Amino acid sequence: MIFKVKGTQKISVVVLCSILIILACKHGKTDDDVIPKPADTTHVFVNTNAIDSVCFDEQILPLLVSNCAKSGCHDTVTKQSGIVVTSYDYLKTTLSGTLLMQSLRDSGQLGMPISNKLTADQVKLIQTWVNQGMKRGIDCQGPCDTSNVTYSGSVFPIIQNYCLGCHISSGTLLTNYTQVKAKVTDGKLFCTVSWAGGCQPMPQGGVQLSQCNIRKIKIWIDAGAQNN
Ligand code: HEC
Repeated sequence: MIFKVKGTQKISVVVLCSILIILACKHGKTDDDVIPKPADTTHVFVNTNAIDSVCFDEQILPLLVSNCAKSGCHDTVTKQSGIVVTSYDYLKTTLSGTLLMQSLRDSGQLGMPISNKLTADQVKLIQTWVNQGMKRGIDCQGPCDTSNVTYSGSVFPIIQNYCLGCHISSGTLLTNYTQVKAKVTDGKLFCTVSWAGGCQPMPQGGVQLSQCNIRKIKIWIDAGAQNN
């Protein structure tokens, strides 16, 4: 009787272990199947970070490039103080999160002209990204939604993120509708962002706008570039 119970227990333990091992293996395999390896993810439109995570390529890089990577500052040519912000790899290897936030919040000590240019929301976004571990993320925008393109909801936010760092106070100004519309009328806006047609490619020294953002600008221009 006692032996029988022990035997059953032994068998149960063996069966249980086998089930666990099979489950563990199955689970591992499923994970591998579903989550692409980092090398495969560059072209995949999936956000592998938490839902509320900040998207580096779309939300952080453009702000830093347009505000800090001007010639004479933190572009790949000047490399002021050894700091370069034109790509994720440069940024991670030349700048700490602490120093980055100090220069954004600084009101003069570090001599960064950026502190009075970014809005409080933009600084908060960068702080969130730093707090989340300065992760790369990938294209977090999902599919390109061009169903309701407007100046205020689509075009100006792009200009605000990617262009205003340089076009806020001198040269070609893009701070309001009238100024942006003038660049539509003279044909320069689309010519510069499309990197075709012989204009200076914009954003200067940065990466080209995503095809989705270029398409939105085109749709808005083609519909009459209205102040909507
Ligand atoms: C890193 C700085 C920088 C960024 C970022 C930048 N530009 Fe420029 N842009 C310049 C400079 C410098 C010039 C030449 C002087 C001027 O016209 O202001 C220029 C010129 C222009 C011109 C006039 C071109 C001409 O031939 O008359 C347009 C239009 C323009 N930029 C649009 C944009 C747009 C749109 C963006 C954002 C997608 C952008 N720029 C981002 C620096 C920048």
